[in-house]
Amino acid sequence: MAERQPSKLHVASSNLVSRSIDPAGGPDALRLAALRLRTALDRTIRPTPGLADDVEALSAAYRAGTPPTLAHGFVHDERTAAAYAAARMPATFAAVGRALLEGARAMPGEAPRSLLDIGAGTGAATWAAGAIWPGLETVTLVDREPAMLLLGRRIAAAGAAEGPLASADWRLGTAGTAGADLPGADLVVAGYVLGELDDSSRSRLVETAWAATRGALVIVEPGSPAGFARILAAREGLIAAGAAIVAPCPGNVPCPVRGPAWCHFLARLDRSPLQRRAKGAERSWEDEPFSYVVASRAPGRPAPRVVLGRPRHRPGRVVLRVCTADGLAEPTISRRHGAAWQVARDLEWGDRVGSAVANRLAAFPGVDTPAET
Ligand SMILES: C[S@@+](CC[C@H](N)C(=O)[O-])C[C@H]1O[C@@H](n2cnc3c(N)ncnc32)[C@H](O)[C@@H]1O
Repeated sequence: MAERQPSKLHVASSNLVSRSIDPAGGPDALRLAALRLRTALDRTIRPTPGLADDVEALSAAYRAGTPPTLAHGFVHDERTAAAYAAARMPATFAAVGRALLEGARAMPGEAPRSLLDIGAGTGAATWAAGAIWPGLETVTLVDREPAMLLLGRRIAAAGAAEGPLASADWRLGTAGTAGADLPGADLVVAGYVLGELDDSSRSRLVETAWAATRGALVIVEPGSPAGFARILAAREGLIAAGAAIVAPCPGNVPCPVRGPAWCHFLARLDRSPLQRRAKGAERSWEDEPFSYVVASRAPGRPAPRVVLGRPRHRPGRVVLRVCTADGLAEPTISRRHGAAWQVARDLEWGDRVGSAVANRLAAFPGVDTPAET
């Protein structure tokens, strides 16, 4: 990836860990893009009387957890594509956005100029990548379903007059099959695709995606035990192929997460009236569970991370579960730990652990002090 211009310091109001240097388009840019996406979906999708039924049928197919058996996928025409975009696109945007952001934090100083979005669907991952790296110059979205690409283009046209999406190349193709021509790119993303494939197609897709990767490959799956198992298998294949794992894991170390737990995170999103209607849901927000891996050609700066659930807060102390290079640690950080407490009390599930907490963690056997967050 190309060297990036000096990035601005982002200070989030609620989370001290964000005092790390965020990419030029950090969480605020993602929030803004989420609003633009909501407007674009409103402009593009007509909430027909059958929309909620179409969404329910699609959700049932995804919940079944088995790859589609038809020649075409779960989404295969205008109606199912509209159901997907109305009900799922805001959530996959939020999840992939968070994974990309964590990738950016683990690779400071890198800025991709080209993006390949594999199994792009209606373009959620590209929307997120464009928010984080507005300097993307060449963007290719590949999907095997023409209806998804068509709708994705319409959504992009309704919401992105300029920037990476406006000049993107939307290509019909089945990644991982012989003859499928994938262009190389600095950043390659495969969001919520692996679950649609059988085992051998899945590993072929990961191999093909890695072969196309010049900088980093980001794979995101639903945060279910099955989704995590797919991420774990992809991670193993990528390590064997020479990749450096930079997020969410603290490097190319054996994964310490064993059943019944599975490594996943939550992306919080506001539900628009369209999304609520499509899902027949009342609540104005949802948490999208996701699992992910970021594999890089360069070593990057992986770090310990808060995993396996929200930190447990007690008066004057907080108990964290942290994935470290030497396995899981469960430190209690209290007021008497000074700077570590100042940071730890604001850490959230999925956050990188900053050096103040890590110095405290160093008191635990085998826990390394990470590089700057
Ligand atoms: C669940 S959707 C995810 C779409 C988008 N990435 C997102 O995160 O919202 C999965 C998409 O992958 C596409 N797909 C599945 N297998 C594919 C393959 N081998 N090559 C290209 N696209 C594929 C499907 O057509 C579908 O649009």
